[in-house]
Amino acid sequence: MDKKVTILGIESSCDDTSAAIIQDGVLLSNEIANQEVHKAYGGVVPELASRAHQQNVIPVVDRALKLANVKKTDISAIAFTRGPGLLGSLLVGTSFAKGFALVNNIPLIEVNHLQAHVLAHFIKGNIADNEQPKFPFLCLLVSGGHSQIILVKDYFDMKIIGQTIDDAAGEAFDKCAKTIGLTYPGGPLIDKFAKEGNYNAFTFTRPRIKELDYSFSGLKTAFLYFVRDRIKEDVDFIKKNKNDLCASIQFTIIDILLKKFKLAIKQTGVKDIAIAGGVSANSGLRAAITELAKEENLNAFIPEFKYTTDNAAMVAITGYHKYLKGEFVGQDVTPMARMPI
Ligand code: KG4
Ligand code: ZN
Repeated sequence: MDKKVTILGIESSCDDTSAAIIQDGVLLSNEIANQEVHKAYGGVVPELASRAHQQNVIPVVDRALKLANVKKTDISAIAFTRGPGLLGSLLVGTSFAKGFALVNNIPLIEVNHLQAHVLAHFIKGNIADNEQPKFPFLCLLVSGGHSQIILVKDYFDMKIIGQTIDDAAGEAFDKCAKTIGLTYPGGPLIDKFAKEGNYNAFTFTRPRIKELDYSFSGLKTAFLYFVRDRIKEDVDFIKKNKNDLCASIQFTIIDILLKKFKLAIKQTGVKDIAIAGGVSANSGLRAAITELAKEENLNAFIPEFKYTTDNAAMVAITGYHKYLKGEFVGQDVTPMARMPI
């Protein structure tokens, strides 16, 4: 029998240190160390993030290996996130991967973080698992740093056909959350409070941006001014209206995202659609995409929660497909803060 292809994936692009093992496309472990240190600052502090990655990377890899019941000598290659992301954070994962590859005499595979978010849809929970989108499909990639509509023609043939010209959808969630006093990252909290609120309570004007592009910075400012003005009339405005504010802003962000995504579906004529990235954990967005697929007779692919925010399983699956193509890099590879898809 042929030897199994076992990939160790490392993710360290922002504030999550993660390691995962994928064997022949099947996930064996996916360990994540979240960094609580940023909560007090209302956002990720790059210098603190890289320090925390340094502390976390070895224990996280160790746990991933143990949980998967895999020895270092079983690993075929190590895949790591090269970019885009915070340079200091990327440097920790890159350096670890280079050292690990050298010591264990295995190939090194660079991974683009954005491609990895999209390819998370190809992670298998078990060997018979065949629930995967068919090429070409459209993926709405929405995270803290990106909002893109991607036409996925093949594993490594992706084209961005629309994207934000300023803030990302996740940033809009986080900044609006901050305006009403919620801690970072505010996206999950808005999601939680929105469930108890009325999404029609407040309306915010939608941006007018050409074609398939997005803009979220105007909405963030409109929300800030709206709340500030209402507080002048009633100091308890936020407290009294928290759920409605969350429901209304979430509804608006989803509405903006869906409008362009629908247009992209029409223009490309795809039958399979997917969402990816941290914001794809949002319950309102998941429901809206499911509904859209039903209405338009499309196949919707909604990732499991554990694959929405940053994780190494998506890096390992991307590495697995690069391994099959024999795409390796040398020890001279360096991280990239910006990296096209
Ligand atoms: O993909 P990700 O973990 O990191 C980046 O690559 O940016 O995405 C993080 C973003 C944050 O902005 C966070 O607030 C948002 O995803 N997020 C959510 C939810 N869960 C995470 N936004 C809305 N609703 C959620 N349930
Ligand atoms: Zn991400």
